[in-house]
Amino acid sequence: MTIQEWGEAARRVTPLCMGCSGLGNSTEVSDEQATATVRAFFNSPLNFLDTAAGYGDGESERRIGIVLRELGGLPKNHVLSTKVDRHAETGDFSGEQTKRSLERSLELLGLNHFQIVLLHDPEYSNWEHVTQKGGAVDVLRDYQAQGIIARIGVGMGPIDLTLRYLDLGGFDVVLTHNRYTLLNRSAERLIQYAAEHNMIILNAAVYGGGILARGPEAFPQYMYRDADPVTLDRASKMQALCSEYGVPLPAAAVQFSTRDPRITSTVIGMSRPERIQQTLDYANHPIPEELWPRLDAIGYETGDI
Ligand SMILES: NC(=O)c1ccc[n+]([C@@H]2O[C@H](COP(=O)([O-])OP(=O)(O)OC[C@H]3O[C@@H](n4cnc5c(N)ncnc54)[C@H](OP(=O)(O)O)[C@@H]3O)[C@@H](O)[C@H]2O)c1
Repeated sequence: MTIQEWGEAARRVTPLCMGCSGLGNSTEVSDEQATATVRAFFNSPLNFLDTAAGYGDGESERRIGIVLRELGGLPKNHVLSTKVDRHAETGDFSGEQTKRSLERSLELLGLNHFQIVLLHDPEYSNWEHVTQKGGAVDVLRDYQAQGIIARIGVGMGPIDLTLRYLDLGGFDVVLTHNRYTLLNRSAERLIQYAAEHNMIILNAAVYGGGILARGPEAFPQYMYRDADPVTLDRASKMQALCSEYGVPLPAAAVQFSTRDPRITSTVIGMSRPERIQQTLDYANHPIPEELWPRLDAIGYETGDI
């Protein structure tokens, strides 16, 4: 495939994407479990996976690369998105670091090209540093101009800063996380902006990192830290309301995103093979229309987190 064809293929992703941050956790997830999860993905109807150089400082990509080599490369019609990262220890996000990150990703994944590469979490670095001449943004553009990357974008948190990056131009993919869920809708204006600009919109962490998958009692955290009492109360009320309708809370959490026509794909974090089928079941679980306004009425955050 040419790089142009890869770029076009990047629009034909399934509405669900396997998020691979958990595959970078080598303390809790063994190589066997990680590779079994990736194999289950390639045996499923999903065609889209999202990783990053920084997930376990290369571990997630290394493990995906093991399976890609077994398959003889990324199978046709599959789309892989990765991200360039700052240095894991020094925090350096210079142009040189960005090149090293990209080259290591190519090597770990065993690829010659990328369909999608996102600038990852630039909020932890300085704007002037990342956007300077020859800096991280320029390096991404250079790789794209050379035909090594088909599409570039940003994958990050704070909404105003995300919009500032998008205003630089040239990005046609945006990944937002934890901010367009049953419990937080602060990315609404970002999603609207991106839709109006015909971007590929990836909505990640619709379980808020786990609370909407496991429930607030088992997992009382939102966005990787302890959830505040209001969020916990809302999550409990949502869980109770869903059960009135016989709907699992995670089914509502997934479909909150997949039912929004502006969103290209919903990125769900998974580190076990059985997650693929569970996710498909949640995505297909019947949900009566009247549940949605009732979930909205419980309330959600609109301020950025
Ligand atoms: N800055 C960025 O670019 C950025 C930030 C955040 C996320 N992301 C992307 O989005 C993906 C998703 O985000 P996330 O993983 O942080 O959060 P998430 O999708 O909201 O939640 C993932 C958590 O939910 C659990 N889970 C998933 N399916 C489940 C099920 N059926 N039953 C019970 N638990 C289930 C997972 O457990 P297991 O691990 O046990 O499967 C994991 O602990 C990431 O992997 C990454 O690809 C990108």
